[in-house]
Amino acid sequence: MAKIIAGVATSHIPAVGAALDLGKTQEPYWQPVFQGYEKAKEWFKETKPDAIILIYNDHASAFSLEMIPTFAIGCADQFAPADEGWGPRPVPVVKGYPELAWHIAQSTILDEFDMTIINKMDVDHGLTVPLSLMFGQPTEWPCRIIPLAVNVVQYPPPTGNRCYNLGKAIRRAVESFGPDERVVIMGTGGMSHQLQGPRAGFINSEFDKAFLDGLTKDPEALAKISHLTYVQEAGSEGIELVMWLIMRGALSQELKEVHRHYHVPASNTAVGHIILEEI
Ligand code: DHB
Ligand code: FE
Repeated sequence: MAKIIAGVATSHIPAVGAALDLGKTQEPYWQPVFQGYEKAKEWFKETKPDAIILIYNDHASAFSLEMIPTFAIGCADQFAPADEGWGPRPVPVVKGYPELAWHIAQSTILDEFDMTIINKMDVDHGLTVPLSLMFGQPTEWPCRIIPLAVNVVQYPPPTGNRCYNLGKAIRRAVESFGPDERVVIMGTGGMSHQLQGPRAGFINSEFDKAFLDGLTKDPEALAKISHLTYVQEAGSEGIELVMWLIMRGALSQELKEVHRHYHVPASNTAVGHIILEEI
């Protein structure tokens, strides 16, 4: 049977992708940001998962305001990098895993989660920047990737609790998939940031650090955080953190925290990253 072996969370800041693509990782501003991902690169090389379920949000690249699925799973063979206005990033095409993706779609829908099935979709920085941080600049991504998009752009996004419970349903789905695949689940986005309005530039390190602690030790408490609290404490785009709760919900209670990275600033956000391994 397949199993989830670890969860990884990371910010997905578009400027980080641009810094990497333009060869700026050693510049003084970016060096401490990228330094914190060296461990993840080593860890993925050693761990060699068969597949990654990558929870992210689309930023009006694949879905416009005409169609806004709350949860959408990519069941295609492959997903092209999206053109986000500056042209698509120079990164490999994402190879999917249709058998596992369809299995997760079936299992979660029969488990009463309304998952949209996507057979064609381009993927933007929300998905490609985390892959670049984990794997650098390879000619091919080293494993199959299932994109799972969450609406955190247009109100109302799903609650943290709903996301946490979806994570649990994803775990049940993976554990009922026949082949012995070793699966990593990733949650992306965050941490505190606000890109708009009078509070643009807002960052709350105290909230972020408590969120990282809670992710390891008390995810049930994090699942109770309301939308209003996210906006007040983590800024309007801090709501992206509900996607980290899908990742956490898919893990068991006893975990080893392998690595943590937190740095301010990177573009308009606090960069956060954590690796949680099943014991
Ligand atoms: C920034 C961060 C994001 O998560 C995003 O989707 C867009 C921009 C930023 O920090 O600039
Ligand atoms: Fe974002």
